[in-house]
Amino acid sequence: MRSAGLELPPGFRLVHLDEIDSTNAEGLRRAFAGEASGLWIWAGRQAAGRGRAGRPWTSEGGNLYASLVLRPGVPLAIAAQLSLLAGVAAHDAICALAHDTDARPDLQLKWPNDLLAGGMKLGGILLESASAASDQAFAVVIGIGVNLDHAPENIGRPVTSLARLGISSSPAKAMAALAWSMAEWLRHWESGRAFPQIREAWLARAQAKGAAISVRQGESLILGHFVGIDEAGALLIQTETGQQRRITAGDVSVAAEARGA
Ligand code: BTN
Repeated sequence: MRSAGLELPPGFRLVHLDEIDSTNAEGLRRAFAGEASGLWIWAGRQAAGRGRAGRPWTSEGGNLYASLVLRPGVPLAIAAQLSLLAGVAAHDAICALAHDTDARPDLQLKWPNDLLAGGMKLGGILLESASAASDQAFAVVIGIGVNLDHAPENIGRPVTSLARLGISSSPAKAMAALAWSMAEWLRHWESGRAFPQIREAWLARAQAKGAAISVRQGESLILGHFVGIDEAGALLIQTETGQQRRITAGDVSVAAEARGA
């Protein structure tokens, strides 16, 4: 199916907007209004783009801002797996964009759903859910932002863009690549039955096991080494005292030595 000039995988629709507050906010509004599963909302820029933990997501023109409205028809705990699935799909979409160039970016996924290149943030994913009291078929909105043309300055952490890595891509090309890789991974997922394969795919695209990481949870900071993710998608970290901890929420940083800095 063709929509907004893009060829989309079967079963998906797309709305393109020049500007919106946030594609996730628009996805949630449409979900509450009864939108069916499979709608992509793609915007040229966002006036109030949002990131994880209430942070803003700077959203000037030239980068990719897209959200997918899905009604996965599974319990919310299973639907949460879609955050890792989206990371795998976004990783593959970026590899597809790099494929036609000489650039070989060092792409990695960082738990729960950051896209890094050479240890610097290249993109992020924000999963939100919408359900009305009477609505059994709740919706999730999977928002994905990728720095194609530029990276925001002065946000207190290292960031990069595909352009800086020598990969020039238009938002339209990136949108199409993402729509196809998401469709493919959603098919593999089989409503959660094949999550072990998604987990393996995520681990294959993540930082090396044993890398030094830290996890911030409010005021507390846990230092340790990346062990992996468990069968539910939680982060496993070996702390400096040798204890293994399971983390379900927090901000993970790759320690400087793990980036070779
Ligand atoms: C993060 O903090 O890493 C998550 C960033 C998610 C940004 C994307 S851009 C498209 C969608 N719309 C939003 O407002 N946020 C997500």
